[in-house]
Parts: sequence; structure tokens; C-alpha cells
Amino acid sequence: MENLVILGAQWGDEGKGKIVDLLSENYSVTVRYQGGSNAGHTVIVNDQKFILHLLPTGILHNEVIGVIAQGMVLDLEVLESEINGLIERGIDVRERLFISDRTHLVLPYHKLLDKLFEKKSSIGTTLRGIGPAYMFKFGRKGIRISDLEDAEEFRLKLKENIEFVREICEKVYCETFELNHTSIYDSTMRIYESIREMVRDVSAFLLDNSEGILFEGAQGTLLDIDMGTYPFVTSSNSSALGLSNGTGLPPKFFNNSFFLGIAKAYTTRVGEGPFPTELKGEEGDRLRDLGGEYGSTTGRPRRCGWLDLVALKYSARVNSLDGLIITKPDVLDTFEEVKVCVAYEIDGERTDTLPASLSRLERVKPVYRTFKGWKKSTKGITRKEELPAEALELISFVEEFTETKVVMLSTGPKRNEYLWLTETLQRTNAGYT
Ligand code: GDP
Ligand code: IMO
Ligand code: MG
Repeated sequence: MENLVILGAQWGDEGKGKIVDLLSENYSVTVRYQGGSNAGHTVIVNDQKFILHLLPTGILHNEVIGVIAQGMVLDLEVLESEINGLIERGIDVRERLFISDRTHLVLPYHKLLDKLFEKKSSIGTTLRGIGPAYMFKFGRKGIRISDLEDAEEFRLKLKENIEFVREICEKVYCETFELNHTSIYDSTMRIYESIREMVRDVSAFLLDNSEGILFEGAQGTLLDIDMGTYPFVTSSNSSALGLSNGTGLPPKFFNNSFFLGIAKAYTTRVGEGPFPTELKGEEGDRLRDLGGEYGSTTGRPRRCGWLDLVALKYSARVNSLDGLIITKPDVLDTFEEVKVCVAYEIDGERTDTLPASLSRLERVKPVYRTFKGWKKSTKGITRKEELPAEALELISFVEEFTETKVVMLSTGPKRNEYLWLTETLQRTNAGYT
């Protein structure tokens, strides 16, 4: 059985959680491999809503093993509360959660720095300490979960880090520093003791159990630290580029994987940064209201706009997508017209590629193609035959433009609200072969 990779194809919140939940039933292992508790993956099962920040979504299925791989940055307090929250709801993951011993920790001072950096110049981060935790990792000051094995060594490293952050805080930002070494040490060690059985060499585990794995991307391709709209991005490789370093698996491991990109039928983004198709007035508000576009992690209103096919095509190429899943077309059910962006006009010139330069991106004027709205409910439909012709026309156009098949539509937030558009995949739901 081929492995499956599920990636956000826009600026995050595309509905990855819903799709991973739906498809992971057929896999034995699901893996998160980048980002941290900045993610918010929503799943609705039997009218119960779950929002997962750190745990791989597939773990909601009782038989599925969940893996937190080395590319993630792990906030132990969030992990503890997420595990306990699921236990309270009758889902015990403790026996089937594996955590890479190479995973770096997010500690309270990373969250403090996130706040300070944001005060100075805002990216609109989730304030979960993600950027600073990766700064420490790449600056070789990070603390990995395997470092907690040696309590004395951890105590010293923590002390050094706290002193370093205190200096930044007091001398650069002129703020008072209130974090306490003992309380961070105690709480980290207490939680570590309760999860140490889960910590292992995850890369070796995946190499030895190399089939039936679903890799769950967090954030989206346009938030990728290298391929996204830098500096308005997250601090990890949230495109397919992050798979190998995020898991510790060799690039060849993914040769036979099936790569699926998830995209909304329109576009959202939360936080600052360029967003060529953003609708600032009534139409944007309407999309936000109809789509319930408020952050799953921070509750912030998401910025909304039309589907940007230039950006989606870029994502399809960067990730070499084998297929797209379009979510939330039902949100467009009442629109007279539906627009999609087919080119960027920059300084009077047209292009259909996404520029690297921030200043060029900020000058983009979107060129739209307008489709007739379908003005019919698509909510919850499960058969292709029930899809309005106008919606099918739009999907064909997306396929043509992005040169990628749309294999599935999600027609609502619940697990059973979807339909396959490709027969081969439908028949071999479990296999993609
Ligand atoms: P993720 O971060 O990519 O997992 O996405 P989020 O969970 O942050 O945001 C997606 C939101 O859309 C959640 O509230 C989902 O319950 C909801 N959702 C997912 N698919 C659909 C769909 O097809 N239609 C509608 N109306 N809502 C959906
Ligand atoms: P999921 O997995 C949407 C955004 C933040 C901010 C930028 C940097 O639910 O799709 P960070 O806290 O990562 O340093 O913030 O990235 N961001 C997301 N936006 N969905 C997410 O995750 C996001 N994770 C981070 O809003 O603009
Ligand atoms: Mg989300």
C-alpha cells in the first residue's frame, strides 16, 4: 500500500484535519512532522468537535498509531492537556503515541520571545513560541526531548537559555523578566516522566514499518519558510520539502507516496502578509460569516478572498501534487458569481507565477475569471451526479489551470460529507494504486 502525504496547498486552514480524519482510517500510522501547536486541525465526528494542535489527527481512530516526528517543536504543556482532553472524551492515545527523541521543545521563554518580537514588528504569529523554538534549534541552543534523560545536563542548559533570554528581554527590550528556572524545570520534568515511555527513535520505527503511513502536513505551502510569502510565513517547511528533514527519513522513502494537496474553494489567511485576492469589504465579510472563518488556534478572524489559482498552481508544482481535494465549496452556494484569479498583474505586466519578492507580491493586482454561481445547496452531498453543472465547470477549470486532478470534494465539516470525483481513487480508497 502506498503511503499518503496530505499537505495544505494555500495559507493553512484548508480543512486538512477533516480530510486526514476521513482518510487515516485506512492507514496504520499517521505522522506530524513539522510545526507545533500553532496548528489547529478541526474534526467533527458524531457531532463532537475536536481541535488538534499537536497530536496527529489520525490518532482519533482507535487502531491508528500517532507519531510526533523530529521536525516538530513540542510544547509539553499543550501535549499534556491535549492527551488528557482526549482521555476525558474516551479516547486514550497513551499506548499508541510515539514521540521522536530528536524533537525540540518549546519552552515558556520561546513564547515570551514570540510576544516580544511581535511587539516590534508583527507577522501575526499564533504566539505559540514556534519561531523562537526553531531559532534556538538552528542556532544550536535548542533543548531536545532526549536531553531530558540527563536531568543535570538539562538543568544547566535551561539555565544558560534562561540567562540568554533574560538578557535579550531586559537589555534589548527593556522589559522585566519573570520566568523562573525552578518552575520551568519542575514542570518540564514532571510532564516528561509521564510521557517518557512514548519517546523513541521514530525514524527507525518508520523505516521498519514503512507501509500504510499517512503524513499530515500542518500550515500550508504558502506559509513554508522557504517556498512561502517570506517573511510572512511560519518557521518550518510546511510544503513537501519538510518531509525528509521533518521525519528523518531519506528522500527516496517518499518515491512511491501519493501527494494530495488540500485547498479551499476560496482563500483565507490569518496573520499579516501579502494576499493578492483578499476581499476587504462586504464580500470578504460574507465569506467569513458563511465559512465560519475564525482561527481554530487563536480565534482570530481570518482574512478571506477568492480562490487564487496562480498560488494554487505554484503549490501543485512545488509539492508535485498527484491530486487536489477542494473543501468548502458549500460556502459559495449562495453567490451569484464566483471568481478565480488566473494571473497577477505587476507594474502593468502579467504573470502566472508567484514572485519571491515581497514588494512585487504586495503590488500584485489579481486578474479574475468569473464563473456563474450555482445557487443551489451542495452541503453534505455525497454523489458527483448531485453536483450542479456550474460547480463541475469550475472544478474542470481548476484542474486545467493547475494541471492537477481534483480527486475529491469536501461538502461539509462532518466526516461523511464528501464525494470522490475520481473513480480509480474511489475504488481503491485504501490503496491509491
Ligand atoms: P486545517 O487547519 O487545515 O485542519 O483547517 P481548520 O480546521 O483550521 O479549518 C477548517 C474549518 O472548515 C473547520 O472549521 C472545519 O470543520 C471546516 N470544514 C472542513 N471542511 C469543510 C467543508 O467542506 N465545508 C464546510 N462548510 N466546512 C468545512
Ligand atoms: P494549520 O495547521 C493558518 C500563521 C500565523 C502567522 C504565521 C506565523 O491549522 O493550517 P507562527 O505562530 O507559525 O510563527 O505564525 O503563520 N499560521 C497559520 N495560519 N493555519 C495554521 O495552521 C497556521 N500556523 C501558523 O497566523 O501568520
Ligand atoms: Mg487550522
